[in-house]
Amino acid sequence: MTRRARRNHTPAFKAKVALAAVKGDRTLAQLAEQFDVHPNQITSWKAQLEGGAADVFGPGGGNGAAPPSVDVLSVIRRRAVRYYSHRWPRVAGRATLGDSRNSEAFESPNLFNWVITSPPYYGMRTYVQDQWLRAWFVGGPSNVDYGYGVQVSHESPEQYMRELASVWRNAASACRDGARLVARFGGIRDRQVPVRDIILDSLKSGGWRVRTVFAAGTASAGKRQADSFLRTYSRPVEECDVWAEVA
Ligand SMILES: C[S@@+](CC[C@H](N)C(=O)[O-])C[C@H]1O[C@@H](n2cnc3c(N)ncnc32)[C@H](O)[C@@H]1O
Repeated sequence: MTRRARRNHTPAFKAKVALAAVKGDRTLAQLAEQFDVHPNQITSWKAQLEGGAADVFGPGGGNGAAPPSVDVLSVIRRRAVRYYSHRWPRVAGRATLGDSRNSEAFESPNLFNWVITSPPYYGMRTYVQDQWLRAWFVGGPSNVDYGYGVQVSHESPEQYMRELASVWRNAASACRDGARLVARFGGIRDRQVPVRDIILDSLKSGGWRVRTVFAAGTASAGKRQADSFLRTYSRPVEECDVWAEVA
């Protein structure tokens, strides 16, 4: 992959691109090609233009930098009404909140035919904090735990690999013979580690036979916040998908 050299665009150029985006008669991909800038950059300039539009008409319009305040409870209320105002179909299944490094989290043995998962990407340590509300819905604490104790250790690839292997071992013992596993794994740019080796070694020592590994691309294929906020594009880590069978 080639890395695009950092360019200093003039304000006039940014305004031209942002206005074209506001106009809306061309797709983001078309504009990106026309102006040779990343689509995320166009989205960001468009937001900047819209946020600062009031300034054109005099002071007091705001500088566009402050986000509008949001009433969090009304957002939750709106969602609750949307989710609970109709009856959901009854399905066999259950969500369990637990630490998958502990075998008790997996209940009965010989239960599952499939494990479809994505373990914490190496170096990403904020899942618990980021997801506290979601966890609260299934019985988690009502306060945010900023500690790292409840997460797989990211101290070193070896330590991480050992803890992940214990998760795979627990998963294997909850599975039937011939059960299969699909996992997507990746890392973060600041911690350059052999992502593939970590997941493959952990699966092997956790009682799974790896069948196939695919390159799964990078997060740039989706919406990547880092590309909108940073001044240079960072190169995300290549992710991989692994298929395995219980050994
Ligand atoms: C890459 S994300 C996968 C998210 C998943 N695909 C989803 O949509 O919810 C990794 C997940 O592993 C969870 N996790 C981290 N440590 C864990 C542990 N010890 N036991 C169970 N889950 C854990 C994180 O909270 C996070 O939700």
